[in-house]
Amino acid sequence: MTPLEELLADRIRRRGPLPFADFMRECLYHPVHGYYSKAESQRFADYYTSVDVHPIFGRLLARKFAWMWEQLERPKEFLLVEAGAGVGRLAQHVLDFCAAKLTEFYAAVRYVAVERSALRREQAGKRLRPHATAGHLRISPEIPAQIPAGCVFSNEFIDALAVHRVVRTGGMLQEIFVGWDNGKFIDAVRPVSTCAINEYFATQPVTLREGQHAEAGLEACDWITEVGRRIARGFVVTIDYGHRAEELFDERHMRGTLLAYRDHRVSEDFYAVPGEQDLTAHVNFTALETWGQRSGLETRELTSQTAFLLALGESNEFADLYDPGQSEAEQIRARLQLKTLIHPEGMGERFQALLQRKGLT
Ligand SMILES: C[S@@+](CC[C@H](N)C(=O)[O-])C[C@H]1O[C@@H](n2cnc3c(N)ncnc32)[C@H](O)[C@@H]1O
Repeated sequence: MTPLEELLADRIRRRGPLPFADFMRECLYHPVHGYYSKAESQRFADYYTSVDVHPIFGRLLARKFAWMWEQLERPKEFLLVEAGAGVGRLAQHVLDFCAAKLTEFYAAVRYVAVERSALRREQAGKRLRPHATAGHLRISPEIPAQIPAGCVFSNEFIDALAVHRVVRTGGMLQEIFVGWDNGKFIDAVRPVSTCAINEYFATQPVTLREGQHAEAGLEACDWITEVGRRIARGFVVTIDYGHRAEELFDERHMRGTLLAYRDHRVSEDFYAVPGEQDLTAHVNFTALETWGQRSGLETRELTSQTAFLLALGESNEFADLYDPGQSEAEQIRARLQLKTLIHPEGMGERFQALLQRKGLT
């Protein structure tokens, strides 16, 4: 038993089954035993993201942010807020590139690396000290209360937010709670714990099929609504794997999209080793658009990562890929890494980029 398994089992024995969202939140974010609260020792053993492939990902994003700054008519301060910044790798790629190649924009950048885990904030602080000292970055557990002009962006953040699980039975939505029986966690099907779940599915343009499992990403909805409220003028960029609702809830996803990752192996054993494996669910981009609209965020585009990165890199034939003094072999390697990011069979079509904006015409 992991220490977290003991804590969760004890809680369920005393208070009854837990909504899956509460179970998932504890597994990922329990202050001591949560998967993301611990040092990143397991990180590359379990998964990697576009950020880890090559700095070109951050460099192209930096070009997009500079374009946004122009669109906003070059405000003196441009708040660039990264949600789920982890140990600050993406922040480093973006800021190093801005400092070297986009100097006018860099002068306006006020980067806020937002990260829930205290340990990761500490690691990010060390990595990003030069930019912090120069007054271009701060690290925070929270999105700034007001964003007069800027952009809130994230990479593989929304998929790491807790979700409720549901199943449609007898024409009704029921919620899957986590129970404890005979020394193990079990699914416990109950009436929904909050009417927000019914509201969530009522706003989707599809109805679940009989027997279909699905997730309700209520935390993601709250998050995007709050971000919209805090931005006066600016953009939101969300890069993640997922679909619009019609595809997310289609007949290919009868078991939902929740997955557990450990040692680069994927499983549906969500209850194994709590706190020691990553749990993720595909992002419902329709929900981000719908809840975003409620606080003034208008969708500009939803494209594949392939199209998003190609549009940013093609104009200079991906010259940002190379570092000065690189050998021919290093350049070839960089080109292969770029392929992983944009090739449809690599990360290119699995990941989508949603661009929303507010206060601009
Ligand atoms: C899958 S990791 C992604 C890390 C990084 N963005 C990357 O691309 O490599 C998700 C990160 O989001 C953080 N996180 C989750 N919920 C958060 C919240 N509400 N506020 C800030 N950070 C959060 C986690 O602690 C974790 O570091």
